[in-house]
Amino acid sequence: MCTNEDRINYLDHAATTPVREDVLEKMLPYFTQKFGNPSSLYALAGEARYGIDEAREQVAEVLGARSAEIVFTGGGSESDNTAIKGVAAARALSSARSPSNGHIITTAIEHHAVIHPVEQLEKMGYASTVIGVDSTGRVDPGEYAAAVRPNTFLASVMLVNNEVGTIQDVSEISRQVREAADRAGTSVMVHTDAVQAAGKLSLNVDDLGVDLMSLSGHKIYGPKGVGVLYVRRGTELEPLIAGGGQESQMRSGTENVAAIVGMGEALALSEAERVSSRPRIQALAERLIEKIAERIPSSIFNGSHIHRVPEIANFSFVGVEGEPVLLGLDFRAIAASSGSACSSASLEPSHVLLAMGISPELAVGSVRISMGRETTETDIDDILQVLPEILQQLGTFPAGARS
Ligand SMILES: Cc1ncc(COP(=O)(O)O)c(C=O)c1O
Repeated sequence: MCTNEDRINYLDHAATTPVREDVLEKMLPYFTQKFGNPSSLYALAGEARYGIDEAREQVAEVLGARSAEIVFTGGGSESDNTAIKGVAAARALSSARSPSNGHIITTAIEHHAVIHPVEQLEKMGYASTVIGVDSTGRVDPGEYAAAVRPNTFLASVMLVNNEVGTIQDVSEISRQVREAADRAGTSVMVHTDAVQAAGKLSLNVDDLGVDLMSLSGHKIYGPKGVGVLYVRRGTELEPLIAGGGQESQMRSGTENVAAIVGMGEALALSEAERVSSRPRIQALAERLIEKIAERIPSSIFNGSHIHRVPEIANFSFVGVEGEPVLLGLDFRAIAASSGSACSSASLEPSHVLLAMGISPELAVGSVRISMGRETTETDIDDILQVLPEILQQLGTFPAGARS
């Protein structure tokens, strides 16, 4: 347990979040007391089954979906992979159509959990179109929909970007894609990776007009290694993991009951607090962005000032790499990130920032600050105080500049 003195100023909530105490409490009995295999017939198993059923209803309620449309998975990456490969496989199986006759649309700023499965499908013969973004990270719905071809069967677009926090107009993209699909005489399944949108934006699947949606537990104060794939009724999907037929044949394997219970509770709580928590985070974000611009004139805000979630803010600092800045912050017990967590081990410039037209030099100098429910004004003031000092030490910030 951290004392106040050794408390980490954790500003990396887009990478992961701590499990909430109330979520943990709800999960704990499923490890030691209600530990039955949900597929078994006795009462102990029924308790586990009930826990999963309740979690499924909680998720369905938040998404405005039916509980039968909710599939629990092993995380956001698995949900994305299942959506993309599962729709492709179902299409191939149902009509014996060859991969070379299938086309997918996606964007240049997707998470690697979307980009790489699409690339895997390309190796098998599928075609894809990757739609670019403007300098704020936004996709143009008209440009996206114009990519629909007579053989397009899947369109994937993320709701909130994990590196810059830009929001896409998924409902408008979906609407235009469906119109274009009608004109082209095809039927296109629309998938959205909403991993970074949960707890921040409405996830109503009808309003968004999506057939498939990916969510992850550990971004919303739930456990790691659990996720959700929403599958609209009637969507043909071949499971990635076959076996005992759990999750209505969609995801075999004995269920991670405690994690599923945690996922349901975390999503329900984050949705319940979504609207009321917004003004506080918004105020912190405004303070952060305004003061960084004021105190570090050589900084560049990456993203959209309008279409963004306040929790995620991304900056580049001219003439500096992100890594030493992060180390300097870490030395002062502040945790932030450069690029996404998955690519932070490499010094490759972020594909998201490059797609936004940011130069490779500035892209490697990017720092992502992502706030959460326990972030305070003091935490923001702390990083505002420390950042100019670190940049000064790195020799990229004129001594005597306002700090
Ligand atoms: C937008 C987005 N999609 C997918 C994922 C992958 O989720 P998970 O870590 O649960 O596999 C992440 C995690 O960083 C993400 O930010």
